[in-house]
Amino acid sequence: MKYYLLFILSTFLYSSKIDNSFITKYEYGAMLYKNPRGVGCIKCHKNTRKKEVFVKYFDRKNIEKIIIIPPISKLTYKQFSKVLRAKKNSSLIMPTYFLTTDELRSLYFYIKNMK
Ligand code: HEC
Repeated sequence: MKYYLLFILSTFLYSSKIDNSFITKYEYGAMLYKNPRGVGCIKCHKNTRKKEVFVKYFDRKNIEKIIIIPPISKLTYKQFSKVLRAKKNSSLIMPTYFLTTDELRSLYFYIKNMK
């Protein structure tokens, strides 16, 4: 009887560690948005619905340059995943990532449904 209870307890504790159905797709997406094995999306994409000025500076010829963070909430999954899957994206600012399809889907879901 004692061992039986111990078995149930350890199965429960173990499964709660490996089974990520304990967190929702939304929570998983939110987690990745902050920490996608690289620089967090949230550090640059603060507002996903509106474009924002990331930085303004003057170059060596004294010409003002503005770097814009585009909105990302209205993209289709195809557009979104194309940017994030690129081995080398066209941006001078945004890093490249190595995310799985599952991770990309959760991230996309989060961005679309962000509160
Ligand atoms: C260091 C800042 C930075 C980080 C971190 C970053 N981005 Fe970006 N992102 C940008 C900038 C800037 C652009 C616009 C392209 C450009 O001008 O360089 C962009 C563009 C994009 C685009 C394309 C938008 C379009 O309209 O085509 C998507 C999608 C995107 N980012 C998603 C993400 C996601 C998801 C993450 C996290 C996994 C992330 N970004 C992390 C700065 C960043």
